[in-house]
Amino acid sequence: MTEPVRLTKFAKRAGCAAKQPPGFLLSILPSLPSITDPNVLVGCATADDAAVYRLTDDLALVLTTDFFTPIVDDPYDFGAVAAANALSDVYAMGGKPLTALSLVGFPDAVLPPEVLVEILHGAADKAAEAGIAIVGGHTIKSEEPIFGLAVVGTVAPDRVLANDKALPGDLLILTKPLGLGIITTAAKNGADHRGAIAAAIRVMTTLNRAASEIIAAAGAHALTDVTGFGLLGHLRNMAAASRVGARVWLDRVPVLAPAWEYVRAGISPGGTHANHRFLSEWVSYASDVSEEDQLMLCDAQTSGGLLAAVASDRADGMLASLHATGAAEAAVIGTIETETPGRIVVVRTEGAGG
Ligand code: CO
Ligand code: CO
Repeated sequence: MTEPVRLTKFAKRAGCAAKQPPGFLLSILPSLPSITDPNVLVGCATADDAAVYRLTDDLALVLTTDFFTPIVDDPYDFGAVAAANALSDVYAMGGKPLTALSLVGFPDAVLPPEVLVEILHGAADKAAEAGIAIVGGHTIKSEEPIFGLAVVGTVAPDRVLANDKALPGDLLILTKPLGLGIITTAAKNGADHRGAIAAAIRVMTTLNRAASEIIAAAGAHALTDVTGFGLLGHLRNMAAASRVGARVWLDRVPVLAPAWEYVRAGISPGGTHANHRFLSEWVSYASDVSEEDQLMLCDAQTSGGLLAAVASDRADGMLASLHATGAAEAAVIGTIETETPGRIVVVRTEGAGG
């Protein structure tokens, strides 16, 4: 009987924490030729989740890709997490996935082909749950396993949920708990003594489909998903694109409880620290928000939740629907403010100064 393969042993960096830090692309994109095609409704300029390309007055394509090294040990789970994560960027634009292609790097010298079969199987099952098929792909040899999808979806051009239309007074709703980067890092290091990885895998393999449909139906102003840049990184992108500020109430933010214990024990991925460093010039933390609290809000998520900015009178109804459809931890976590564009203030509780 051979030992089950531990995929994270083959990854130097795991999941969305393998992403280049947020400042990296921001510094490169301006040097590329600018996009002039008027049918590009969403391009690179706003650091949004996916591109949107108008085909007709009623129909636009949503285009996105996401891939990374193993975030979990089990190959089937890795495929399912990677697929849910890639599909999420379509949902985060208010779109509906149509079909997808696999992007694969595989170290065939050190892993048997059955491992790749399991990865693809996990992805295919997750795609089927989303109502689509994976119709092709491309595979290269690589030193670390790499897996993800390029996903194509559709959206009506006037129903795009971009990240640049949040309005002062909107409430911010987050649909999944944080702590995924911290827990997966603890598991990779053999330090997950609370066995939190099972809950983290459940969260990461939950499609953002139902949440996206509820948020779109409730008429949210802006939407994004929380992945490698962490809650504050993706909120910064939304605030900067929308030319607004934001305020986060730490005690309202849902977190998988063991992640608090692990981050206080010094466990968090390198990507989380990179986010924290990059965000220091955009975020003001109240004096009672500790370094560990800050890291949690910057934690690099993989297949994290949706973050919506919604008119305050719509928030209660939206939350009730989210809770009723399985997003049990969805919560109002803060608000959009006039001051100062792109800047975020984090306080411990609503009403606290800072
Ligand atoms: Co995204
Ligand atoms: Co993404």
